[in-house]
Amino acid sequence: MNVINNIRQLRSWSTINKGARCVLVPTMGALHEGHAALIRAAREIAGQNGNVAVSIFVNPLQFGPGEDFSKYPRTLIEDLGLCRDNGADMIFAPKADDLYPPDRSIALYETSLSQLLCGASRPGHFEGVCTIVAKLFNLVECDDAVFGKKDYQQFAIIRRMVRDLDFNVVLHGIETVREADGLAMSSRNRYMTPEERAQAPAIRAALVAARDAWKNGERAPSALQQLITQQIQEKAPLGRIDYVAAADATTLQPVSATSELVVIAVAVFFGATRLIDNIELK
Ligand code: PAJ
Repeated sequence: MNVINNIRQLRSWSTINKGARCVLVPTMGALHEGHAALIRAAREIAGQNGNVAVSIFVNPLQFGPGEDFSKYPRTLIEDLGLCRDNGADMIFAPKADDLYPPDRSIALYETSLSQLLCGASRPGHFEGVCTIVAKLFNLVECDDAVFGKKDYQQFAIIRRMVRDLDFNVVLHGIETVREADGLAMSSRNRYMTPEERAQAPAIRAALVAARDAWKNGERAPSALQQLITQQIQEKAPLGRIDYVAAADATTLQPVSATSELVVIAVAVFFGATRLIDNIELK
């Protein structure tokens, strides 16, 4: 496994590996079983002759003032072990100075999907995500990229970016990997106190209850939202709901008669820790 931490080395790796299919898994490190599933999926897609590249970069651009950029967990040594164990061929772990010139003046704005859900409470976040992902696509010259559906809005926005800007990259979305009690795995779970951690599975339980209600014929977004809100408030008194939204899975706009697939997305604060999760209704 090659570990590369600057652009010059990356360019020579790309030259040597020209012709081989390259599948990128972008991450911010602090890797867990959810990331491992993405790397294994990338391995399958790349096949024996292709390359699986994992980027590890805590992207300052996507953190707002007062968010957890400086305390975001950095566990590079363990991360490299997890990448190796799951079949990665190359790790790109650059420094921020190497990626962002101090006088940089171009960024990518998405003006529709990013205005809602997490975008509403994290202004600038998806601008940072789009900018780094576009840079990574250009740098790694990947043919495919693998994302988790846990960050549903992120995946929808990247899909839009690839479509609107004609990136020649095939995207793959992977189902959310969960702890035994249903909590979606996240690098941020470790921030919670034991009491908060004990209540956090209420998020998944509430989403499953909403899906059950949907299967039993409940179609009113407001009723589904109310059910989720009530359940989280009851079972997780330490949680503070940021949003509960029923959205069209492609446009992320409120559900309409033309919505082919509906997703319910939630964000809940436990102290300063913001957890997100979602469920597709089908
Ligand atoms: P990060 O939070 O490290 O996540 C990297 C990838 O892992 C994302 O595609 C995310 O959706 C996926 N992921 C996280 N938890 C998961 C889980 N429990 N199950 C399945 N997949 C999971 O998302 C980012 O980094 C950044 O925004 C990034 C795209 C790297 C741009 O900086």
